[in-house]
Amino acid sequence: MVIHLVQDELGSIDLEACEWIAEKLELQPINIQELITFYPMLREKPWGRKHVRVCRTLPCALRGAYSTCQTLEKKLEVKEGHVRDDGEYSLEFMECLADCGEGPVVMVDEQTYENIDCEKAEILADLLTKGKLEDSKEFESYEQSLVTVPASPKKSKSKSTKK
Ligand code: FES
Repeated sequence: MVIHLVQDELGSIDLEACEWIAEKLELQPINIQELITFYPMLREKPWGRKHVRVCRTLPCALRGAYSTCQTLEKKLEVKEGHVRDDGEYSLEFMECLADCGEGPVVMVDEQTYENIDCEKAEILADLLTKGKLEDSKEFESYEQSLVTVPASPKKSKSKSTKK
């Protein structure tokens, strides 16, 4: 618990923080270091100002999460598992984000985005880099404005019979 609190406060657990925690818990720093290097939710260096997570677990993977992650790597100019040089973005390809029926799932900080295929990943990254990705509603309206083709001829035919 104290490790999470320290990480929440500092953004990461560096050597100094590691030693402080060890002292408080009457352990050796190596005991804390082992936890930090073992558990992926703990980190020695802080993430970027905007942290992007992509789910890689099977349901999302089957729906294209690997391609989504590659698209975000390219658009945000940051490799998965790293922080961009200017510290603006970090990208993490990680296990389940608890929204398994709507994959590929992407999170930006604490906001979840569903069904993020490559095309949507490009839009999401564009909005993010322009500072316009404040909430999913804006993303959804931007996304809908791009949809101009009916899903199938049947649907467009049924629409025309209503008129
Ligand atoms: S499998 Fe992707 S959110 Fe659970």
